[in-house]
Amino acid sequence: MSKPVLWLRCEKKVFERRAALTPTTAKKLIHAGFDIFVERDQQRIFDDFEYEAVGCKLVENNSWPTAPKDIPIIGLKELPVSTDPLPHTHIQFAHCYKKQADWSSVLARFHRGGGTLYDLEFLEDEKHRRVAAFGFHAGFTGAAAGALALAAHRKDEKLGKLEPYDNEANMISHVRGVLGGSGKGVKALVIGALGRCGRGAVDLFRKIGLAEDDILKWDLDETAKGGPFQEILDVDIFVNCIYLNSKIPSFVTRDQLVAAGMDRRLSVVVDVSCDTTNPYNPIPIYSINTTFSEPTVAVDLGPESPPLSVISIDHLPTLLPRESSEQFSSDLLPSLLLFPSRQSARVWTDAEKLFKEKLAEAVVAEGL
Ligand SMILES: NC(=O)c1ccc[n+]([C@@H]2O[C@H](COP(=O)([O-])OP(=O)(O)OC[C@H]3O[C@@H](n4cnc5c(N)ncnc54)[C@H](O)[C@@H]3O)[C@@H](O)[C@H]2O)c1
Repeated sequence: MSKPVLWLRCEKKVFERRAALTPTTAKKLIHAGFDIFVERDQQRIFDDFEYEAVGCKLVENNSWPTAPKDIPIIGLKELPVSTDPLPHTHIQFAHCYKKQADWSSVLARFHRGGGTLYDLEFLEDEKHRRVAAFGFHAGFTGAAAGALALAAHRKDEKLGKLEPYDNEANMISHVRGVLGGSGKGVKALVIGALGRCGRGAVDLFRKIGLAEDDILKWDLDETAKGGPFQEILDVDIFVNCIYLNSKIPSFVTRDQLVAAGMDRRLSVVVDVSCDTTNPYNPIPIYSINTTFSEPTVAVDLGPESPPLSVISIDHLPTLLPRESSEQFSSDLLPSLLLFPSRQSARVWTDAEKLFKEKLAEAVVAEGL
């Protein structure tokens, strides 16, 4: 039987420094008998030589279209827009199963080329939990951005551009530094604290030195009484990490904030969940997604209120590309080890079934 093979392609999305396979997971796959090809990529947080050192075969940047058709291509984010047929098997986030912009034209490329898409967002375990997700580091980095915005507020400044950190230690020491050495004395509330993002936010607050009693951890039990919640106004940073799937009362409202006037401690809201345009958004005090260049948007509450900023960046884990890639890739590893038996391994057969359903919808939508 021939050896299983994976081809790690480069990422073409601007600012994307994360990778679906890291040198750590590539090494484990090689030990399990895989051949791993890795495209050289200056953009990736991991250096090419880190892959070479563990036995990967380095190939030219963006050369996957010429790879033999039977080699599966693994990447992270969507491919650049094109109409070129896709004859390979691709493992990646394609963002085309929920009728996102251009969903049917993305799938049409697979139809034309005869390739298969295994979308990373839809690889699930038996309990329908995603096998790998970036949530933990979204909460972690979102909380860090919130702490940086608080420090800026304290100096009557606006938080400037955010840049990815080489590693977690650098991020922690930078955040501690701008807070004067430690986050001690800062009070934070995390809603959705039992989930992936929520656990990440709590972890960051601990690591920058908040006292345990100053990290309020709420989940379904605490919000069951229904908002809006005064408790949100009584902390410095509120981080929303819930998974929204139904209409719920707002957690905080503009009227509530205006009525509180100067009697408010809350300085920064980090909406990790980013249900910005969702009609059920439980934080209806802002209406845009913010960016790494402009990380905050001010909530206009009139002259009788202290400043309030919202951070609503929808790709937060990019701020910590090394650790978030390592965590994602190691969670993905058990499924990748099963990839050679993808005709029978449930995680892959389910993903292929979903692909075929979505492909059929796209064929109709595109009139193919
Ligand atoms: N901004 C980003 O960069 C980014 C990155 C990854 C994920 N996300 C988003 O973050 C959200 C959470 O993702 P996750 O992976 O942590 O989900 P998760 O399912 O692991 O956790 C969600 C948590 O929210 C809790 N929850 C749900 N409704 C609640 C309510 N009404 N009150 C209190 N708690 C409630 C759940 O009990 C659960 O503990 C998702 O919307 C996801 O799309 C954002």
